Amino acid sequence: MSRLAFTLERESPGSKARAARFTTLHGPVRTPVFMPVGTQATVKNLDVEDLKAVDAQVLLANTYHLLLRPGPEVFRKFGGIHRFMNWDRPVLTDSGGFQIFSLPDSRVMTEAGAQFRSYVDGQVHFLSPESSIAMQRDIGSDIMMVLDQCIASTASHAETEMAMHLTHRWAERSLAARGDSAQALFGIIQGACHRDLRLRSAEFLRALPFDGLAIGGLAVGETHAQRYEFTGLVTDQLPAHLPRYLMGVGTPLDILEAVHRGVDMFDCIIPTQLAQRGTAYTSHGRIHCRRGIYKFSEEPLDAACSCPTCAKYSRAYLHHLNKADEVLGWQLLSIHNLAFYTRLMAEIRAAILGGEFLAYYERQRLVLGREDE
Ligand code: GUN
Ligand code: ZN
Repeated sequence: MSRLAFTLERESPGSKARAARFTTLHGPVRTPVFMPVGTQATVKNLDVEDLKAVDAQVLLANTYHLLLRPGPEVFRKFGGIHRFMNWDRPVLTDSGGFQIFSLPDSRVMTEAGAQFRSYVDGQVHFLSPESSIAMQRDIGSDIMMVLDQCIASTASHAETEMAMHLTHRWAERSLAARGDSAQALFGIIQGACHRDLRLRSAEFLRALPFDGLAIGGLAVGETHAQRYEFTGLVTDQLPAHLPRYLMGVGTPLDILEAVHRGVDMFDCIIPTQLAQRGTAYTSHGRIHCRRGIYKFSEEPLDAACSCPTCAKYSRAYLHHLNKADEVLGWQLLSIHNLAFYTRLMAEIRAAILGGEFLAYYERQRLVLGREDE
């Protein structure tokens, strides 16, 4: 039995888009949902009040970073991440697989797991499927992810096949390590851009007792057309009664396209990373706050946005803060960009529940595909 009591609320005529809800140890999640990235048990520059102001339902945190610092003992002392960071809504933890595989020089990979050096103090650490789950149990996330081997989406068939089989063996070990924990656990489908391997990975993982299934290994070097193709190929293989999570995706347009292909959950650093560079999503396309044309602008970032930033501040002030590299500028744009994402997800969900997603999709893909203002 799934630990999430997943309920499919509505499917969409002419599209694979779906609205659903499920229940975690820290309350409900309504999908499609976007999860802000809080790698270090913080979404950079935002506190939990800011996150609630933008209606964040679930946060993503990273096992890899939290293992190195502050370490499992702190989470055990606090009884988990929720009390530690004062966040009472759901948390999903990524396993560390993705982070480790982006450190090619300083890791040694074996069947048992991955050995790597800490970027904090140079100490050698070992992460296995079992130790990743043990750490995620200490963190006390609502949804844990299996340790996987993520490789470039351009990897050869032979290399991808080996990584996929290792990911499958690690998935079985992760399930065994989860034991009777009440925390949910998702499997991760790999297979790069090889159709036969993606199909085999989906077939293998859907037969195991996971509470949800993720699509990994995308948004790592493939074209947009390939991303859409492989997303649709995989979702066609997934059971209807489990949540589907497309890891690390994406832009608003990527998300719209993936919802259309049957994905329920997303995470991405784009909204907060662009904020750091002074870029804001608006209902008229993206704007770059550092541009001189905003120096005297008394307008809000987006007149159609009801976020705290747009309610209180002008483009001129945000332009100034960003030019001066003030942290407040980054914070205010992060709030706005996350509000843009959560509003997009709420609109998508309303369109699905109203039975009019296909029309919304046809309209919105043109809007989201527009060039910057
Ligand atoms: N984040 C983005 N892509 C991936 C992936 O393939 N695996 C994991 N564990 N995390 C990811
Ligand atoms: Zn706003």
